[in-house]
Amino acid sequence: MKKRLFSGMQPTGSMHVGNYLGAIESWVQLQDEYECIFCIVDYHAITGNVDAKALRPTVLEMATWLIACGLDPDRCKLFVQSQVPEHTELCWIFNTVTPMGDLGRMTQFKDKSSRAGNSQGNYVNVGLFDYPVLQAADILLYKAGFVPVGEDQRQHLELTREIARKFNARYGKTFPEAQPLIKEDRRARVLGIDGKNKMSKSLDNHLPFISTEKKTRKRINKMLTDPQRGTLTDPGDPEVCNVFTFHGFFSSADEQAEMAAGCRAASFGCGHCKGLLATNVNARLAPIRERAAELSERPDDVRDILRAGGESVRGLAQQTMEEVRRKVGLGLGE
Ligand code: AQP
Repeated sequence: MKKRLFSGMQPTGSMHVGNYLGAIESWVQLQDEYECIFCIVDYHAITGNVDAKALRPTVLEMATWLIACGLDPDRCKLFVQSQVPEHTELCWIFNTVTPMGDLGRMTQFKDKSSRAGNSQGNYVNVGLFDYPVLQAADILLYKAGFVPVGEDQRQHLELTREIARKFNARYGKTFPEAQPLIKEDRRARVLGIDGKNKMSKSLDNHLPFISTEKKTRKRINKMLTDPQRGTLTDPGDPEVCNVFTFHGFFSSADEQAEMAAGCRAASFGCGHCKGLLATNVNARLAPIRERAAELSERPDDVRDILRAGGESVRGLAQQTMEEVRRKVGLGLGE
């Protein structure tokens, strides 16, 4: 029996290179080793400022791109969170074993709530606060033991384990303590084009996947480089330059060595380094973009894949909820 893993992605706009390197690339690789359940988390998305009319098209677009990246419906289950309403039922039950103090300490909540006032009126919605509890429900509904994510999700995963422990202590052993699968290198926390913050849609510092070659090149040209390189003749330090970090993801070893030497010797400017990066990023994305373009001509096929994925996991979710309701004492019983 393969070990089960779960991971999710928010349909809050175009996915980006940070999502790809931090999560999706691993999702694709893990499909043979694990029983994989991948979810487009639309209940999570509505904690942000999403346009209701855009949500379904965004979900479909995200599914298209995930399949284009290599998620294979024959080797994984791909579905949309709201196809399985048991996610929210389990979230409610987990709310009753989760201390408010734990949620208030979540750094993502602190970051997002400090920004929420601008986009959503002058309040922070309860969904944003409760987000990690829903995330725990997403994972534990399927009793998944492993969760491939970026570094930003480590704290939420610790909380998921804590929630499992609290529930198990109160109602008897039910849930596993899910382990994060996080990359060991800089892919775990890809910085945005500002070179400072985590690449993130809401900070608009991201390198979108769903884009043209020309726009990708333009965006890469905006990337912050080593601030010591004020002029073309100033030598730079590739170790502190985010563009060079990206070469580590997208360029060959020879190209990386050439860029590092040229930067240190100031034998070329940052524009040259960015130009090669843009060429390599576009080359890596080209086959994915091509597959996505083909698939977007067949939206019904993508919907069918999601429908089938949702149906195939619903039974598991219902089974877990029957066990949970019985243990918690909910419902009428026999
Ligand atoms: N910059 C990143 N580096 C590495 N991994 C990342 N992930 C996200 N950003 C990076 C990983 O991608 C998966 C899906 O993330 P998500 O859909 O939950 O999106 P997010 O983390 O909320 O991404 P954004 O862009 O920051 O969205 P907004 O701004 O809308 O909240 C996760 O595994 C995440 O770790």
